[in-house]
Amino acid sequence: MDALIRTEGLSLSFGGVVAADNIDFRLDVGERLAVIGQNGAGKTTFINICTGFLKPTRGRVWFDGKDVTGMEPRHIVRFGLGRSFQLPQLFLDHTVRQCLEISAAARQGRLSFFKPLAQSVNRREIEHTLELVSLRERGSELASSLPEGQRKLLDVAMALMLNPKLLIMDEPTSGVASEDKHDLMATLMRALDERKVTSWFVEHDVDIVSRYATRVAAWIAGKVAADGPPAEVLASAAVRREILGTA
Ligand SMILES: Nc1ncnc2c1ncn2[C@@H]1O[C@H](COP(=O)(O)OP(=O)(O)OP(=O)(O)O)[C@@H](O)[C@H]1O
Ligand SMILES: [Mg+2]
Repeated sequence: MDALIRTEGLSLSFGGVVAADNIDFRLDVGERLAVIGQNGAGKTTFINICTGFLKPTRGRVWFDGKDVTGMEPRHIVRFGLGRSFQLPQLFLDHTVRQCLEISAAARQGRLSFFKPLAQSVNRREIEHTLELVSLRERGSELASSLPEGQRKLLDVAMALMLNPKLLIMDEPTSGVASEDKHDLMATLMRALDERKVTSWFVEHDVDIVSRYATRVAAWIAGKVAADGPPAEVLASAAVRREILGTA
């Protein structure tokens, strides 16, 4: 089977820092990958290269069979590679519903000065997506009024409006109180399952990783140091020593 996303020899340095060190990686349809690693290990850099926000110094990225190396993010997203950000990228002075309308219009290439936004989008799709991430009751409120957990949900909902095959989420639970993290992840995973979206999320909380991932990849100093079933990776010596601090 072809990989949904695959990289070969992906490398990027910032001055003397090797943030991505010759990374060979693949993810298949239906996987739910958690990426773990210390601050500065290169987790976000790798995502940024795969999604076109950074260009690698060496190596290639294929998404859904197409070579997307060095392409602009807006082109890659159209092939079905969505992402959400460590800090949600919302239209804070718009309502929750308008944020989804903007995403939908962008997908259709129909963002236009000459047409009211609300006319150009499929209302049912928007309401269904709001429902899917449990934000329907907040649809008329400003995005800026949402607490962090709901901002994360809105960020993902906006990405879902682009009908991704793969959604990469950079720390979807960061900034969210620990007692709310499980509810947030449960909502996100339910939404992704319903839309049959393959997912990859960066996460520091081991409980969340063990509960929601089907596979774990551990990043150490710009390399994938361990990759496999969660129980195996979380028990490996390098991960316990370098990441979890439990060796
Ligand atoms: N635009 C940049 N310019 C210079 N150095 C950078 C840049 N982006 C990342 N780096 C460096 O590359 C390394 C990897 O950073 P990256 O943000 O990918 O780590 P991370 O694993 O996502 O960390 P965190 O868990 O803190 O989000 C770090 O040493 C970082 O300082
Ligand atoms: Mg990061």
